[in-house]
Amino acid sequence: MEPRRVLLVVSGGIAAYKIPELVRRLKRTGHAVRCVVTASAREFVSPLTLQTVSAEPVRESLFDRAEEGQIDHIALADWAEAVVVAPATANLLAKLAAGIADDLATTVLLATRAPLLVAPAMNVNMWSHPATRANVATLHERGVEIVGPEAGELACGWEGEGRMAEPEAIAGALELRLGRPSLAGERVVVSAGGTREPVDAVRVLANRSSGKMGFAIAAEAARRGAETILVAAPSALPTPPGVRRIDIETALEMRDAVHAEARSAGVVVMAAAVADFRPASAHARKLKKEDLPEGEGLTLELVRNPDILAELCREPGERVVVGFAAESHDVVEAARRKLARKGCDLIVANDVSREDAGFESDANAVVLVSPGGEAEALPLLPKSEVARRLLDRIEKLRGARS
Ligand code: PMT
Repeated sequence: MEPRRVLLVVSGGIAAYKIPELVRRLKRTGHAVRCVVTASAREFVSPLTLQTVSAEPVRESLFDRAEEGQIDHIALADWAEAVVVAPATANLLAKLAAGIADDLATTVLLATRAPLLVAPAMNVNMWSHPATRANVATLHERGVEIVGPEAGELACGWEGEGRMAEPEAIAGALELRLGRPSLAGERVVVSAGGTREPVDAVRVLANRSSGKMGFAIAAEAARRGAETILVAAPSALPTPPGVRRIDIETALEMRDAVHAEARSAGVVVMAAAVADFRPASAHARKLKKEDLPEGEGLTLELVRNPDILAELCREPGERVVVGFAAESHDVVEAARRKLARKGCDLIVANDVSREDAGFESDANAVVLVSPGGEAEALPLLPKSEVARRLLDRIEKLRGARS
């Protein structure tokens, strides 16, 4: 790949001792690397070491007249074609998420328009703290790429997730990010949310799907350069950048939109919770309770909706079709049966019996089930991260097919 101008922001964690190695790797690929160190980073790695390996002046302070005189902080932010924060402490992630700019590093991070990649490193409890989880989710939604952390023995004596990704992994992620978008030229259709089936003029049959899972998949596909179409059942979520959104309400409307858009698509992901049944006829006017004596029943006749996923899978072609399965027990077995019945290329099974995953929550715990029966269980992850891992798998399937 072409040499780029990479700005490396180093914050104060023990993993900072690995940063000279990261600089060396980036330089070896031909990139120009400039470093900014926070005050606490200087406790872990010497600016002189970074200056020597990068062969560029290292910036340390916002209010140093000599430093600012050479390259001011905005010029530095503009210079960067990519910014890497490694190690990224919990404190730095929090400031980044909140938009706080109270030193040189955070000011440059707020001012730059370059793609941003962060490699968190911290104690396992700090990493799993709800505040850090929320900050990471915010950054991910904004398109910031999070590399690691990895699990293992931590310098603080604890064991678990929190080790900074190795310099090789960080450099590799940067290459991927700066290379050609991996889904450029691909058309991806994603369905999201819960369809609504009208009962009368004001009432609907609905379900608890918020659309978060499907919207996260569409956002990730667009970020990877795909022409992305999101067929969305009613949802208050904003349309992700770069995504064309088609709003629908009922399963029949979703079916029409998905089929029309899927015609020239290479990938279709059905993350929507589509109503299996709809009222045989919707009353044009509001049903009045006064028309029925108290305690008397009202019978709604339901008819089956078409199975959009199964219909797509029956169509011939090279397209990769992915379904979701919301299951409350025997998750993998139920997903295997569903996959066999519908004939799709992959089923993403969610355990919707968990309180912290599935419908409406920001996280999901899924198992990727393949036609051969293999099942890859992912841990509880933010839906944005589930989307990333799912698209990694879809890219492999698509690559194998074409
Ligand atoms: O939207 P969120 O709040 O983020 O929640 C995400 C989710 C839990 C809704 C999502 O991850 C999920 O599991 N979606 C599928 C839920 C579901 O309805 O599963 P199902 O077992 O009924 O359907 C299986 C598959 O067939 C799904 O891909 C569904 O889109 C598709 N289907 C179902 C019925 C139908 N008539 N047509 C279909 O295409």
